[in-house]
Amino acid sequence: MEKTKLQELLAQMTLREKLGQLTQLIPPLLGVDPDVDITGPLSEMNIDPEWLPEIGSTLNAFGAENLRTMQEKHLQRSRLGIPLIFMADIVHGYKTIFPIPLAVGSSFNPKLYETACAVAAKEGAAAGIHLTFAPMTDLVRDPRWGRVMESTGEDHYLNGEMTKAAVLGYQGKDLKEKGRLAACVKHFAAYGSPWGGRDYNTVDLSEGMLREFYLPAYKAALDVGVAMVMTSFNTVNRIPASANKWLMRDILRKEWGFDGVVISDFAAVDETITHGVSADSAEAARKCLEAGVDIEMMSTHYIRNAEELIRSGKLEEALIDEAVLRILELKKALGLFENPYKDASVEDEKALIQCEEHLQAAYDVAVECPVLLKNEDVLPLQALEKKLGKDLKIGLAGPFACMGNLSGGWAIAKADDDVSTSLLGALQNAMPNATIETAAVRHMGALQAGIEDMEYYPEEVEALADCDVLIAAVGEPAADTGESASKTVLRLSPNQERLIHDLRKLGKPVVVVVFSGRPLEILPILDSADALLQAWFLGDASSRVLADLLTGKANPSGRLSMSFPVNVGQIPVHYNAYRTGRPSHGQKIRFVSRYLDCENEALFPFGFGLSYSQFAYSNMAVDTLDGDSDVVAKARITVENVSDIPGMETVQLYIRDVVAQVVRPMKELRGFRKIYLEAGARQVVEFEITRQMLSYWDADNRFIFEPGEFEIMLGRNSAETGSVTVSLA
Ligand code: NOJ
Repeated sequence: MEKTKLQELLAQMTLREKLGQLTQLIPPLLGVDPDVDITGPLSEMNIDPEWLPEIGSTLNAFGAENLRTMQEKHLQRSRLGIPLIFMADIVHGYKTIFPIPLAVGSSFNPKLYETACAVAAKEGAAAGIHLTFAPMTDLVRDPRWGRVMESTGEDHYLNGEMTKAAVLGYQGKDLKEKGRLAACVKHFAAYGSPWGGRDYNTVDLSEGMLREFYLPAYKAALDVGVAMVMTSFNTVNRIPASANKWLMRDILRKEWGFDGVVISDFAAVDETITHGVSADSAEAARKCLEAGVDIEMMSTHYIRNAEELIRSGKLEEALIDEAVLRILELKKALGLFENPYKDASVEDEKALIQCEEHLQAAYDVAVECPVLLKNEDVLPLQALEKKLGKDLKIGLAGPFACMGNLSGGWAIAKADDDVSTSLLGALQNAMPNATIETAAVRHMGALQAGIEDMEYYPEEVEALADCDVLIAAVGEPAADTGESASKTVLRLSPNQERLIHDLRKLGKPVVVVVFSGRPLEILPILDSADALLQAWFLGDASSRVLADLLTGKANPSGRLSMSFPVNVGQIPVHYNAYRTGRPSHGQKIRFVSRYLDCENEALFPFGFGLSYSQFAYSNMAVDTLDGDSDVVAKARITVENVSDIPGMETVQLYIRDVVAQVVRPMKELRGFRKIYLEAGARQVVEFEITRQMLSYWDADNRFIFEPGEFEIMLGRNSAETGSVTVSLA
């Protein structure tokens, strides 16, 4: 349908019909199922049943057959035959579950995110979905916030690269293409910075801070054509994001030129009343429409009030028309006017969902995500076996040892009973000659469910005394991560810590595998572990991947996408902090910027991760270039695999602006390259340095380049780099 045709369609629509397009309701409220009496819920939501035929979209309904029927019924009753858009939270896979985004961030391999999202799109599209509420690209610095699991981490450059890959993976080049979903970047803006890490709490950041750190990754999604933007629940500098004209009209629309659809988060329009910035339903509608929210998700202020607001001259109908046109354009881009069911197909669902190719992709992505944080001569197990000269007897303990479902939060389309192999099963497959004894493998409860810890009987652990190596599979329950899962204590549960210390007492090497959706406080158990592998939640391939990494069939290559704090009191601790006037430089003296009882640095910094290979860095050099090209320098370093194990290394480029008009971060990631090196192989890794990479937001919030001195750093993580200072113009 041409744009003019959409305009013609718009011209035929009544105001009520237009407002229906701007309203999104969950499926049970749509009334497309004649067997379900919805009178009660409708009146609770103040919904007039007459509005229902004109509602424009729905969320989180799944399944080709189900969605085809829903669409069919909807079209039968919609006067102008405008199809629904089926939107859903497909966050890290539809039914083939991929690692949580924070884990994918740790792969430092955006291509993998693209693959994961492309697979999710294929499965989701076959199941009748048209749009996913992903990627979530909120910058995160506070692991108390449960939703850090949905982000790719604390760095905006990494987030930006990952976000672009995700959007391309979901959307491809054309939304009409079979197996593609429209993407929705969220949560605009700065949802990842709630005070105290408490979900939905206040966000207050200077404009400089917002522009420098928080906004770039959303912008990256726009750069590759993301179809939709979702607002956030929080306030941004005292104005709720969903009523924030500055964010949506000035920055998103005018400055960035976004012409796609903006949707509120779930009931966020309604929450402007609870926030106390809208006096009533009518004001909530007016403020959010004026601020630029096109679709109101799961509240009904627009449809209830806009007619009266327009009649009384308090709202311009043109605003409604603009918003409706954008939604119709999205429907057109998805091809829904020609084929309202898009790719929904029961046959394709059967053929695609969890097919071999998708499960293999889940493995390929997951194997690059875990981060080896410590390894003192224990891993890989195959090497230990060789050293001991006998088949291993392995003691496997902890609540994650026998768990089948390791999806983590937000795998909402996947049935709970759809479990894959446990770590126990996968280890046994990987090492058929090994004997594996288990102990203390009872599941623990979740904080949300009110059961905090596993039952623990030390005598079970003592029975593992004759094992050659002990593996503790510990962590936080998936239910303690995700939305509304903020915590103030980030330690393992007391019985899990006790388990690890008791294993230690047996005098055998202890390997700890940590499952979590956030950086946990692992210092209390670190000394009791000879090796520690941060597993995150890896999805369907979790156990196979972990077994392969533990045995040595695969080599760990993940690097932390978020710093691990020494303790909760250090939070926020992130590598790219601003410089202070009194740096401590590690000195334990007074009147410098430090804690009396804890160092400033993270326990494990951003970008950190070990490998079974050893990589040596040498010959760092920076060449400055003259001329008009945007490239002002080239930096290079030689990386050599000095071990006899092939492996992957992530070379990281950081830059520090030595003097500027405003205080600049101590360093900022500006590039990374993940390379594979055979044993003994070496490679020169080169980065181009552009003026764009050296530019910053000045005191007047202009993005400027200032010639001067820059420290160029190359190395293996944010804390271990070589550096060269050069003058660049
Ligand atoms: C609320 C969450 O904040 C958002 O991320 C999600 O997409 C919506 N609910 C819809 O489920």
